Amino acid sequence: MPYARPTRRSWAEPWKVKMVEPIRMTTRAERERFIAEAGHNTFLLRSDDVYIDLLTDSGTSAMSDRQWAGMMLGDEAYAGSRNFYHLADAITEHYGYRYVVPTHQGRGAENILSRILIKPGDHVPGNMYFTTTRLHQELAGGTFVDVIVDEAHDPASEHPFKGDVDLAKLERLIEAVGAPRIPYVSVAGTVNMAGGQPQSMANMRALRALCDRHGLRIILDATRAVENAWFIQQREAGYRDQTVAQILLEYCRHTDGCTMSAKKDSLVNIGGWLAMNDEGLFEEARNLVVVYEGLHTYGGLAGRDMEAMAQGIRESVQDDHMRARVGQVEYLAAHLVDWGVPIVRPVGGHAVFLDARAIYAHLPQDAFPAQALAADLYVDSGVRSMERGIVSAGRDEATGRHRYPNLELVRLTIPRRVYTQAHMDVVAESVLAVFDARERARGLRMVYEPRYLRFFQARFEREA
Ligand code: F0G
Repeated sequence: MPYARPTRRSWAEPWKVKMVEPIRMTTRAERERFIAEAGHNTFLLRSDDVYIDLLTDSGTSAMSDRQWAGMMLGDEAYAGSRNFYHLADAITEHYGYRYVVPTHQGRGAENILSRILIKPGDHVPGNMYFTTTRLHQELAGGTFVDVIVDEAHDPASEHPFKGDVDLAKLERLIEAVGAPRIPYVSVAGTVNMAGGQPQSMANMRALRALCDRHGLRIILDATRAVENAWFIQQREAGYRDQTVAQILLEYCRHTDGCTMSAKKDSLVNIGGWLAMNDEGLFEEARNLVVVYEGLHTYGGLAGRDMEAMAQGIRESVQDDHMRARVGQVEYLAAHLVDWGVPIVRPVGGHAVFLDARAIYAHLPQDAFPAQALAADLYVDSGVRSMERGIVSAGRDEATGRHRYPNLELVRLTIPRRVYTQAHMDVVAESVLAVFDARERARGLRMVYEPRYLRFFQARFEREA
């Protein structure tokens, strides 16, 4: 087939490859066996049996030569490692917070923060739940309350900032339960479960003003805040001429502290932190981290991990890095949109989310359409994705019934700096093949359900 003459000039990644990791293609018959053995749960597959791994962007990034060089500079002293100070400096420089407590990953920070701030009976409003974040809030005795804009729950809405907080919803909650029962507002940028959707600076600013009126803290889930800053630069009036780094600093300045899974934006395979401006909160966090993670200057990490993180933070806020990162996600999405495959619009930062409810429209949500779609995609091509629907949503604490989220999605999550455009072509073509065969798809039955975060380890069988 002849190639059409280009109508535009292409961009390319701001790096070249220095080391490669072989991956292996399997046969369809093998994959049918592997997925059955894994209980139709892509979390239970062996990674050796996966061809292109889009399970998550968490801890799956390729580190740079400078990060690897930093790994050799690990100061593995138990206390006061030099790498801790490099990390704390990088966080203060780019996120702006005064105090830093390292943790082994994001949920370590969530555990500590929730234990310090939440009392039984409290309410924690947030712009959509995240699985681990909400569970830690609940384990501390709190109740999560969704205050995101309605558009976030509609995969077809083209709202450019579906991560925005609905301030009227928040005001109603404050009126109903009273500000003293709200330890903080939990804000994420971008919002993972909504499809990697950003929050606007204008909304963050307005939220700050509202919280100031009621004496409420804002705690940011900064896991993908650099990607959020990129979208502000691209989509929000007045930010075109600012760098991602400048926007990130302004965004964080409106908040009182953050939890962080550095396994995403910060381009490392393990690590996280808790940061804040309040000295009293820092005192408590620095004390509690010793119980759950490790001393306050390593928090469950090796010195070398902290060095790689410090360097990763500096690389992550570069505009050309972010252009290539989000550009690759948009490249994959553009194919699916052109071919009529229903996905969450507009495209988010870290992943393309397939609308399984629309694709497998003949399956009721009880038959786990997104779980089934992820399994079918793996069987077609060895591409691994993740369910983000009814299985991830879990059961209601009070009634014990499934939560039925509006969004029933399959997430194709793109690791940073790992795959090429050719890999994205293979993925897009496989999604199309599964989409074309959608009418023959069958649902699943859950045959094993763990108590916490069931999506990680639940097992399923095919319905007849
Ligand atoms: N917050 C957000 C928004 C996340 O996406 C994650 C992890 C966490 C917190 C928890 O961080 O894994 O380091 O303990 N998300 C991964 C994912 C697991 O695949 O989306 P962690």
